[in-house]
Amino acid sequence: MDKDNFIRESDKISTALKKISGSFGKIVCVTDNNKKLLGVLTSGDIRRAILSGHGSNQPIKKIYNKKVSFIFEDELKNKKFNKSIFTDREINQSIFYIPIVDKKKRVKNILTTERIVELMENKILKNKKKKKLPKILIVGGVGYIGSILCNKLLRKGYEVKIVDKVLYDKSVVNNFKKNKNFSFIKADICDLNTQINVIKDIDVVIFLAEIVGDPACNARPEDALKTNYLSIASMAQLCSYLGISKFIYTSSCSVYGLDKENKLLTEKSNLNPISHYARMKIMSEKALLANKNDIFKPTIFRLGTVFGPSLRNRFDLVVNTMAKNAYYEGKINLHGGEQWRPNIHVEDVADGIITSIKSSQQKVGSKIFNLSSDKSNFKIKEIALAAEKVFKKSKINIRKNMIDNRNYRVSSKKFFLSSGFKASRTIKQAYKDFKKLFKNNKNFNPNKKIYSNIKLLSEK
Ligand SMILES: NC(=O)c1ccc[n+]([C@@H]2O[C@H](COP(=O)([O-])OP(=O)(O)OC[C@H]3O[C@@H](n4cnc5c(N)ncnc54)[C@H](O)[C@@H]3O)[C@@H](O)[C@H]2O)c1
Repeated sequence: MDKDNFIRESDKISTALKKISGSFGKIVCVTDNNKKLLGVLTSGDIRRAILSGHGSNQPIKKIYNKKVSFIFEDELKNKKFNKSIFTDREINQSIFYIPIVDKKKRVKNILTTERIVELMENKILKNKKKKKLPKILIVGGVGYIGSILCNKLLRKGYEVKIVDKVLYDKSVVNNFKKNKNFSFIKADICDLNTQINVIKDIDVVIFLAEIVGDPACNARPEDALKTNYLSIASMAQLCSYLGISKFIYTSSCSVYGLDKENKLLTEKSNLNPISHYARMKIMSEKALLANKNDIFKPTIFRLGTVFGPSLRNRFDLVVNTMAKNAYYEGKINLHGGEQWRPNIHVEDVADGIITSIKSSQQKVGSKIFNLSSDKSNFKIKEIALAAEKVFKKSKINIRKNMIDNRNYRVSSKKFFLSSGFKASRTIKQAYKDFKKLFKNNKNFNPNKKIYSNIKLLSEK
């Protein structure tokens, strides 16, 4: 049997962490020299031990579970064992790996409960069988991207915990409250107590909480420094220290800033940030990668500008703003319009993140990827022309003064080659969806401050 399934009492916590890392819900069996089962160890046991002051060089002796369920191989062969072998807690919390031992209690195998149920054709357990999925923490999960991502994850059966300070739309959480796999903590992620409290039972961290966008960061530069850089840097250290393997961070293509040559930019292209927001994105990328090790392997996505309806709408993003103005005001104001921008639908961002949750760390760990739609690199004026085609009564007003000088076209080929994922939803479809949303909700007011980061934050 795989030597990664065994460990001795005298082995170090760091050794156990390496053996467990990457397989959600996995256990290692603690045995004596004759492979006799003494107990088991889970990633949760290790994390709790580290948080209570155990060093990773200390032996596992004091931290493993000595009371442990197991099955004798004869019971398995003769199909004799029944539900009573598992405690209700183990079934309800979906404890998935069970040691199989011989008469002398020497470990012969470790099987998932799913496999045991299959072997036993055990009807009682069959109903309870669930696929083990990692438990996800979304920091900033009630925002524009987070709310769509949370919705998708819950539908796929993941357990999701959100921590969010809820700067904008307070009603978003109501969409999930009834789901038993959902939990919510209203808190500021800059607080170190919050960071430690929320992380304990987590397999995957998705970090979306920020002061988002150039204007919002300019309005709140200190809050932006705290949230967009310092909190990520300390979360990276914490997760690296606790041996959490997956940490997904949404950086931005804003890091490319102003590319005068209009080249198709890849992750290797030069960075040329022209805002506080973009500079902090680069610092956070570096802070994450500086903490990478054998276990902690963050995935960094540089997102294009996101578009499309969400459970927390934002009408301060280029496509969404054009849809709003075209429908309600019959005009689209352009400042310049020649600037290139990569774009991606919010549902595609969520699907890309879910793809990275499912992908092996070999493919996505400790890597930076552009995440956008290769078919949606457009000049701002092309985005406006597409709006005119859907909102037929609207007119484009071009003003010569450029407010936003960012100019970049990006390629997302690297993520496609690593994971097989390609963003596919179009701006035209998003315009149509917005039109439907506006038409069907006569009382909807997209000019409310909660729908614009800059409007709300420049006021508080
Ligand atoms: N939307 C885009 O076009 C875009 C493009 C590139 C990158 N991104 C990145 O994606 C991520 C999410 O963006 P979004 O569009 O969903 O933004 P958003 O503003 O809708 O969501 C951010 C969420 O974080 C929360 N938050 C802010 N500060 C917090 C704090 N200190 N503690 C806890 N929660 C806090 C807010 O309440 C909000 O719910 C950000 O990292 C952003 O930089 C977004």
